[in-house]
Amino acid sequence: FPVENIRNFCIIAHIDHGKSTLADRFLEITGTIAKGNNQQVLDRLQVERERGITVKAQTASLVHTYKGRRYLLNLIDTPGHVDFHYEVSRSLKACNGAILLVDANQGVQAQTVANFYMAFEAELILIPVLNKIDLKNAQPEQVAEQMHNVFDIEKSEILKISAKQGTGIDELLSAVIERIPSPPGDRSKPLKAFVFDSWYDRYKGVVAHLAICDGVIKKGERITCASSGKTYELTEVGIMYPTQVPCDTLYAGQVGYAMMNMRNVDEAQVGDTFFHEKVPVQPLPGFRSATPMVFAGMFPSEQTDFLTLRNAIEKLTLNDRSVQVKMDNSPALGQGYRLGFLGLLHMDVFNQRLEQEFDVSTIMTAPNVAYKMKIKGEKNIKFHGSDEVTVLNPCLMPDPAIITEYYEPMVNGTIISPAEYLNQLTALCHEHRGRIKDQVYIDNTRVMMQAKFPLSEILVDFFDELKSITSGYASFDYEDAGYEITEVLKLTFCLNGREVDELTMICHVSRARETASRICLKLKETIPRQQFVISVQGKVNQKVIAREDIKAFRKDVTAKCYGGDVSRKMKLLKQQAEGKKRLRRIGNIDIPNDAFLQILKK
Ligand code: GTP
Repeated sequence: FPVENIRNFCIIAHIDHGKSTLADRFLEITGTIAKGNNQQVLDRLQVERERGITVKAQTASLVHTYKGRRYLLNLIDTPGHVDFHYEVSRSLKACNGAILLVDANQGVQAQTVANFYMAFEAELILIPVLNKIDLKNAQPEQVAEQMHNVFDIEKSEILKISAKQGTGIDELLSAVIERIPSPPGDRSKPLKAFVFDSWYDRYKGVVAHLAICDGVIKKGERITCASSGKTYELTEVGIMYPTQVPCDTLYAGQVGYAMMNMRNVDEAQVGDTFFHEKVPVQPLPGFRSATPMVFAGMFPSEQTDFLTLRNAIEKLTLNDRSVQVKMDNSPALGQGYRLGFLGLLHMDVFNQRLEQEFDVSTIMTAPNVAYKMKIKGEKNIKFHGSDEVTVLNPCLMPDPAIITEYYEPMVNGTIISPAEYLNQLTALCHEHRGRIKDQVYIDNTRVMMQAKFPLSEILVDFFDELKSITSGYASFDYEDAGYEITEVLKLTFCLNGREVDELTMICHVSRARETASRICLKLKETIPRQQFVISVQGKVNQKVIAREDIKAFRKDVTAKCYGGDVSRKMKLLKQQAEGKKRLRRIGNIDIPNDAFLQILKK
């Protein structure tokens, strides 16, 4: 395929607006997969689980004939959720255009707005598309109006399709070829390839997704990594069609995968440039690295599993470089990690993948955001001569006596909702210490609200509350907005006088009392009664501000087995023993492992 006959593009959409369905239709209509198997080919996470391979954002190559000429269309998949902005922005780098897909029934949503701006910043050509026009209650005219109002898109440019029924797909492929430019790139120049994704395959080792900017790359050649200077022999190159199909050569303008016997998970950095051995080129500017926003401790359920956990974290983070990893040690939980995530969903997904793909069972501590604190005295030796500390772990917060100012991370949030809920929305924003900055009607029934929130306020529950007050009709997305001055304090919890480090948290002064009471109550509910009374206390500066008692009780699992069925009794005892594995001892008190996460939910 000459460069003029190549198109690299992606689909950006709010969750559930039909991205996977559309991708399936593309694969079918181009004969890449057989018709009628509605299997969401690009959504490989399921396959991932079944086959034990780890793959994320995906590309697929399609061949399409348009006006008698054959075109190679590379569809690059992008994740949709707010937490994965970073992944989206890096996939966009390999594209020259994007399909902006909007559900003709639901209309423009918060994520549509966020993704639009990312594509706009990446200077991609956008093809606006209304999907689901087959739906009875589709409102294509009204949604086109929204797209015009919010994105300044000409209504005449908007295509209308039904991904489900296959309506308008051919026209859309034609638009991809007509409107999106072919990738720049010169095949006669020295090789310049950049890594836009990489992952660890349990069987094949490291697989890198490359976009070939200039030159050609062939199996068997030796290529050098610009950042490390290391050279590798290419053992396999190929395209995703839609699964890995090896080929001899990849040309400028193409995207494909490459394997080169990389064993170490740190060798294929996303954003890195590769060139032919001894033919160095100016490397491409790397990606802005993702900033973790949410931090939590992670520990193996059993200390003997620490090495398994370490191995699993190393492998998973190759596939997800946005996770920040630091060693940690906890008196109750032993050796483990302190991890930084892009958001709460990101954290849940990571944890789930650890358990599912690596079979490691873990304990995770209460998530928190990173606070910054100004320290008395210009050069405080204890803090490396700096007058500012960033506190990732609440236990390590300096003594308040020496802190002069506190700062917390903020986000700019976008909410799109039916206008009838405006009052409730305003109240919700205020409850979460949000400041409303802008409010516009995007058509005559829907409103878009922009507000600045402390990140800590939207981490837990915010989204659920938003959905519940708007009967599920509102959408929310956010982006980093730097730090602002604040007033926070350190809240600690004690069980029979012993501090539980894992529960220590930093919270806003206005929330201290309520949070302390809620967590004491939650501890009371989640810690099973034991053979002695347990006092639960929440403290600020050693002063008790909340308290609960857990009464004594002995749980006899065999009490209900009258008579002598020994095997049944043994089974129950075994079950109880297994249940105990999921417990953690603090002093002489057993705490169920998930209590740490449980107590966070209101
Ligand atoms: P995520 O991967 O979760 O972000 O969702 P997605 O954007 O990939 O959406 P997906 O393709 O999974 O579609 C979401 C739902 O919308 C599915 O139940 C689809 O069957 C349905 N859907 C997609 N396209 C159409 C369409 O054109 N018409 C109708 N009626 N339903 C559609």
